[in-house]
Amino acid sequence: SMTTEEKMYRPNFHFTPKKGWMNDPNGMFYANGYYHLYYQHYPEKSVWGPMHWGHAISKDLIQWEEQPIALYPDKDKYIFSGSAVVDTHNTSGLGTGKTAPIVAIYTLHDMTKEKEGKIDVEQQDIAYSNDNGFTWQKFEQGNPVIKNPGIRDFRDPKVNWDETHKQWIMSLAAQDRTQFYASKDLKNWKYLSEFGKNIGAHGGVWECPDFFEIKVDGTNETKWVLIQNLNPGGANGGSGTQYFIGDFDGTTFTLDVNFANKVEQEKAVWLDYGKDNYAGVTWNNVPAADGRRLFIGWMSNWDYAQEVPTTAWRSSTTIARELQVIKKGNDYVLINNPVKEINKYIGKTIKVKSLKGKGKLAVAEAGKIDLTKAMLHFNIKNLKQDTYTFTLSNANGEVVSFGINNTDHYLFVDRLKSGKIDFSEKFASTITKAPLDGSQKEGTFKIILDKTSIEIFYNNGEKVITEIFFPNQPYTALSVSSKNGVELNDLEINQLNIN
Ligand code: FRU
Repeated sequence: SMTTEEKMYRPNFHFTPKKGWMNDPNGMFYANGYYHLYYQHYPEKSVWGPMHWGHAISKDLIQWEEQPIALYPDKDKYIFSGSAVVDTHNTSGLGTGKTAPIVAIYTLHDMTKEKEGKIDVEQQDIAYSNDNGFTWQKFEQGNPVIKNPGIRDFRDPKVNWDETHKQWIMSLAAQDRTQFYASKDLKNWKYLSEFGKNIGAHGGVWECPDFFEIKVDGTNETKWVLIQNLNPGGANGGSGTQYFIGDFDGTTFTLDVNFANKVEQEKAVWLDYGKDNYAGVTWNNVPAADGRRLFIGWMSNWDYAQEVPTTAWRSSTTIARELQVIKKGNDYVLINNPVKEINKYIGKTIKVKSLKGKGKLAVAEAGKIDLTKAMLHFNIKNLKQDTYTFTLSNANGEVVSFGINNTDHYLFVDRLKSGKIDFSEKFASTITKAPLDGSQKEGTFKIILDKTSIEIFYNNGEKVITEIFFPNQPYTALSVSSKNGVELNDLEINQLNIN
């Protein structure tokens, strides 16, 4: 039977390991009917420790089945973050059977060297699977495939197939910049170029990059996106995910001119402004007929991840998301939205055509839905110089609020009174803000709620906020308040039938 902790805090549909610690998602690819997800995992305790690659699979990116651990560390040689590719043409020569080999490329982190204060603690190794990702062999005879060049933080290789230049392309985090490498066979890697020194956010170490070509939505034009996580120095403190958009000639990544201006003005452009979306990267080998660029992040933050009030396990992933590049005027924008597969879990649905009024308005209909597994959608119209605050609350008076401040132009999430908050000083010391370009006339919100998380997708994923919380009782009510009156349209509240 379920423990109280599981009942209260085990997410209904965000992936968590059954027991132990999880951080970054790793090595995601699609093959043979399954989306694979590996992750930084320490099965023995629910804090960070000797890193393994845990493993889970899904047919639809929503419901995950945990699998046996994929990669175990040798003594003091932790298996850090990395990626995996389906080597369809056996370029690596590591294939032995009828199915294409899957090749994982990850950082081997040497704790003995770390304890000795050495610099060269991190190198890039590979492992391979000849059964579609269920069992793995380390490439003992050929590792490392990239030696440490004398850089302390030198990790998190993300490999993608670069169809335009017909090469395997790797982005790698090297302390305060991204390095790019290319290969024909996944074993021999050639250094190409670097990006990012003095560009973007540099409040911490750069970690977990991803670099891929993507079609600009609704056109035949393509652009290159670099996702570059960093910790600390995120949009609202601690861990965060910034991105860059530009062009790639097979060797060098060059920022789009308008994007460069935007980075200069805003210091950094963020994939998510919330405190709890970190180390996210994308799936490889999604079938061409599907064509989506699919992303998942770790729904926590190094500021407090090891202290959140769960004990049997710690952390979950975000909802899987589709990334798209859109063009707004002359600007390229990376948007992210929940994958459409979530829709097939929609059960009972309540629709409210319009809700208008001043002061605090209860959204009574929300009380008919279990808000620990729900999706909300609405549009707010005729926004004034006012603040529109939505509040999720329980009978204990615990609240999470979110909304738009249309005077100072930002979206916000406030979890200062959300329930358990004092396990870490950093958890609820500030309100999370996502700046908006000027006064909004109207806005749409899509919101995904699980037991311990809210994911807010504003204006079709142009601004996103992901945050976790730990109420002492589930939130059961929703209200909206404003000084001068609010006009909510096309409110839809969906029960999600998943757990
Ligand atoms: C990011 C990170 C990576 C590293 C891994 C170790 O959260 O620090 O840079 O590979 O976690 O678990």
